[in-house]
This record gives sequence, structure tokens and C-alpha cells, in this order.
Amino acid sequence: MDPQALENDALAAVATAASTDEIERVRVEYLGRKSELKLALREVRDRETGTALNALRERLEGAIDGREAELARAELDRQLTEDVVDVTLPGEEFQLGTLHPTTLTRRIIEDAFLGLGYEVIDDREVETVHYNFDQLAFAPTHPSRSHRDTFFVDDERLLRTETSPSQIHVMEAKQPPIYMVSLGRVYRRDEITATRFPIFHQFEGLAVDRSLTLADLKGTLLHVMRALFGEQRQVRFRTHFFPFTEPSMEPDVSCPICDMRGCRTCKFTGWIELGGSGMVDPEVLTNVGIEPEEWTGFAFGCGIERSAQLRHGISEIRPFWENDLRTLRQF
Ligand code: DAH
Repeated sequence: MDPQALENDALAAVATAASTDEIERVRVEYLGRKSELKLALREVRDRETGTALNALRERLEGAIDGREAELARAELDRQLTEDVVDVTLPGEEFQLGTLHPTTLTRRIIEDAFLGLGYEVIDDREVETVHYNFDQLAFAPTHPSRSHRDTFFVDDERLLRTETSPSQIHVMEAKQPPIYMVSLGRVYRRDEITATRFPIFHQFEGLAVDRSLTLADLKGTLLHVMRALFGEQRQVRFRTHFFPFTEPSMEPDVSCPICDMRGCRTCKFTGWIELGGSGMVDPEVLTNVGIEPEEWTGFAFGCGIERSAQLRHGISEIRPFWENDLRTLRQF
């Protein structure tokens, strides 16, 4: 290798490099691991040659660094004059997310119950026949037990059809007094229509204490309905049947859409059905080892989408699951 020729070549290449990319290529060619100079340095046997080659390396590095800085500055200057920024153009819109209406409604419900001293629990969605039906005293022939109505995972396990199994889990795990609310998804094999969807949310309340009465149940639901739909709401009960409560009732809330003047939503009755409720059947208490002579309980279960529909005047359940941003942005 002729060091002088190499230096001349390298300096010529540095001088003609016209961009930072090109100078980078020059650096690799003359100083890279496989460059002539690096290979020569590795072969050096005497001090004198070593010193000379190292000095050459330093000169080349200096020349390349200097040229690179020059080119980088020139490129920046060019960019600053060419890419002119029009500061009067409108900025890009910042896309902030919003909470889903189901989540918003769920939080209102949770807050209302927390205010009453209830514990909020999150329970499993895959249940067993034992918890979803047997412990809730569903008759062996009850239609909900069939594969036509319910999504089964296997013979024993299914997607819960209601949040009521949470009652059993909580009563098995603790001694009364119990005040709990469980919120979450439930599943039913329904066709999708304007008002039905095979998956939806419920909130389930359970209170077990000494001497609870229907008045306590009614007062509790009234509190939550007022938190959801405003101070003017009233609650009334219609008798009904549920396997795990006795007596069983369906609570109605005075129509929050028309304030009882009569509208399509309440079918001009002034009242809207909310869900199910009742006094916990003594048999259910006995099954979980709670003494029904000493303890009484009330329970209720209502739809969360239903509540959100009433809060916001939405006539269908489908939009809650379509997640169309044009809908969701309105909340
Ligand atoms: N689980 C019932 C349903 O989905 C609603 C219900 C009725 C819940 C009575 C309760 C209750 O806690 O006591 O239709």
C-alpha cells in the first residue's frame, strides 16, 4: 500500500462527496473494518510505520468529520429554506377518546352503590350449571337450562345467563351482613334485534342482614334510579316470579324520557320495566349455609345497556355493540 496515494485518493473522495450519505460511504471505504488502511495497520510490525499510519488515519478522520459537519449544515439550511412551514395552517386535530356509554352508566351505578356502603365485585363470566341454575333453584325443566337458550362450553360449564350466580359466590365466601353489587357481561342465545343482543351487561345487587324488608329493597332501587335518571324518579313493583326470590317483583321506574306524560318508550304507561328483584328465598340461603331464621335478604338484577338507553334516550341496543365512532363520539 502506498500511503501517499491512499491519502490523495481519500482526500479527493472527501472533497467530492456531496451529501452526508456519500461521506458516510467514503468513511466506510477508507476507515472501515475492511479498508486498506485498517488491514495495513493490523499487519504493522515496526513502530515507525505504525506511527505514520496512525497519523494518516487521524488526518483522514479529521477531514471526513469536517466535511461531514459542513454537509450536514448545508443540508439543514436547505431543508429550512425549502420546507417552509405555513404557521397559519390549522393544526392536526387531537383525537381524544371518550368513555363508552356502557362504561359511563356502569360507573354511575357503581358510585351510587359505593355511596350506600356496598362492595363492588367483578365476577367470572364462565359459570357452572351448579351456580348459574341449581343454586338459584331453577327447576330441572326450566327452559333457560337448554342449549337453545344458553351458550354451553361443555356439559357442566356455560356463559352465565345473568349476574345472579355472583350472589351465591359471595354468600358462600362471607358471613352476613352482606351488601354487594356485581356488574358485568351476561350471554343469551337470542337473535339480534333492535332490543335484544346475545351479550349485554347487568348489575346485580344483594343485601343480607337482619330484618330487611321490601321497603329496604324499594329504597335502595329508588336511590340508584335517581342517581341514574334524576331526582324526580319513582319506583313501583309488579309481582312476578323468579326461582330464587320469594316474593318476586319487577321494579318499574317512572319514565325518564317523558316524565310520565306518556311516550313511545314507555308505551304511554308512564312506567318502564327495569329488571327483576325480590326477597332472597330461604331455600337459597339454606343452600349456602346462611340461617334463614336469623337473616333476610333482598336482591335485584337490571340491564346496564337498558339503563344507558333510558339515560340518553336511545331506542336500540345494537349501537352499544357496533362501536361506530360516530355514535361513540357523542358521549
Ligand atoms: N337474574 C334475573 C334476570 O336476569 C333478574 C333478577 C331477578 C335478579 C330477581 C335478581 C332477583 O337478583 O332477585 O332476569
